[in-house]
Amino acid sequence: MTNVLHETASASGQDGIAYDGLRSFLRKCEAAGEITTIRNAHWDLEIGALTESVSELIPEPPGLLFDDIPGYPSGYRVLSLPTGSRVRMALSLGFPPDTPKMDMVRIAANRMKTSPPIPPRVVESGPVMENVFTGSQIDVLKLPVLRAHALDGGRYIGTGDTVINRDPESGFINMGTYRIQVHGPDLLGLWMSPGQQGRLIAERYWKAGKACPVVATFGGDPLVFTFAYTKFAFGVSELDRVGGMLGHPLDVITGPVTGLPIAAHAEVAIEGEIPPPSEQTHTEGPFGEWPGYYAVDEDSTGNEQPVIRVKALYHRNDPILLNMAPQWPGAPHHSVRFDGGVLWEQLEGAGVPGIKGVFVHNSFFVVVAIEQRYAGHAQQVGMATLGCNAVARNGRFVVIVDDDIDPSNMSEVIWAMTTRVDPVGDIHLVPNAWATPLDPRMPPDMQANGPHTNSRAIFYAVRPWQWRDKFPPVNRIARSTRDDMVAKYRDRLPFPKM
Ligand SMILES: Cc1cc2nc3c(=O)[nH]c(=O)nc-3n(C[C@H](O)[C@H](O)[C@H](O)COP(=O)(O)O)c2cc1C
Repeated sequence: MTNVLHETASASGQDGIAYDGLRSFLRKCEAAGEITTIRNAHWDLEIGALTESVSELIPEPPGLLFDDIPGYPSGYRVLSLPTGSRVRMALSLGFPPDTPKMDMVRIAANRMKTSPPIPPRVVESGPVMENVFTGSQIDVLKLPVLRAHALDGGRYIGTGDTVINRDPESGFINMGTYRIQVHGPDLLGLWMSPGQQGRLIAERYWKAGKACPVVATFGGDPLVFTFAYTKFAFGVSELDRVGGMLGHPLDVITGPVTGLPIAAHAEVAIEGEIPPPSEQTHTEGPFGEWPGYYAVDEDSTGNEQPVIRVKALYHRNDPILLNMAPQWPGAPHHSVRFDGGVLWEQLEGAGVPGIKGVFVHNSFFVVVAIEQRYAGHAQQVGMATLGCNAVARNGRFVVIVDDDIDPSNMSEVIWAMTTRVDPVGDIHLVPNAWATPLDPRMPPDMQANGPHTNSRAIFYAVRPWQWRDKFPPVNRIARSTRDDMVAKYRDRLPFPKM
């Protein structure tokens, strides 16, 4: 398949649009009628509230580009829901805009499997260096940083961020998304869940009594952001995987302060250091999180969390911050979750056969469709899914379905769960799984003192292998018949685009 967006990364591509990070993506979206500009909405709660309302209430919602934000110069913008529709998700991955959701996951998995990683290319400078601030000139609040929910303990610049640090032992460069609170003009707070790779790396510096050098970018190409928040194995450099997905290296600048790579087309970047917590921490949060709750006393340190001392701030002219402030799962930021593709790739990489579809609905709910091939196959898939790094930390409910079920379609998934699961025999409970203290169901003492584990349920919503041939036939019309009906009656009935 042609990579519609990203093959244009050289000066000009086949569609004539030069790669410009978030901006060339935005131009594509605007051309497709996918962006609505909103003026004069306030950074304090209003942008957050409008974004959540739009995502919850409007199917295939528009991307929202906020401009003329009170107290900020015109042109200093915030982008919400960049990949909130199927079309924008496809554009962000470089796929044709009409790519169906399940195909996006499958193609992403294939591309990850077949494209060799391509390390970033170091360039002299880039748009992110249009404005440079160091020392007393640094003030991150010169940007329209949001407060999204009323009980949030402050303003968070890092919602749609990529945090980069280098493992001091192997030298590999990690990229992750972790929330970043503004504590002061050049002081930020960082919350990294226990076991996160960025945190494991920082802990290696702290153990040696050193501060961990760090870069964070805000407002990047959605593809770079997608790779930041997706869980790859420790030692896999997400920047190289971005290059593999793009089909060319990502241009980066070597940060003058840290020596770490900074995406040359990022909208905003900071360089700094994370001192050992024994030297400096700051009260952090509370912050309304992705499960739809505020987690209290998120780990044994309570609300005292690591900080980033900012040594340099860079931004493009008229910068655009990416808003990814968590919203309750009924108002998702993404139309399709990329970690479904990573899980698919990991399952096949582990030698598990017969995978026909994978869809991650929210971090707690994962569905895998299989063509059953032998007795025990469904259980093999269930156990392997629990262990795959892509979903191992959060995948509380894993549902295995037959391949007549579309895993992205919750009506079909619920139908399978309610008609093919016998609760006594077909739900497999697994204790002591890796978890995050953000889990609202984790008892308070475990949340505070660990261990940060919870349990999993695998639902085998498949026709039992032993008597699959005797399972009653379904009375649902065939998908091809449904498609014929839509085609025939579309001019008279308001069918959605498929
Ligand atoms: C919008 C968004 C915000 C996130 N915030 C956090 C966070 O504050 N802390 C955290 O530990 N993980 C957070 N995550 C999840 C991590 O980014 C994800 O687990 C990622 O794989 C971490 O990278 P790592 O495996 O290299 O540590 C967030 C994900 C998204 C999409």
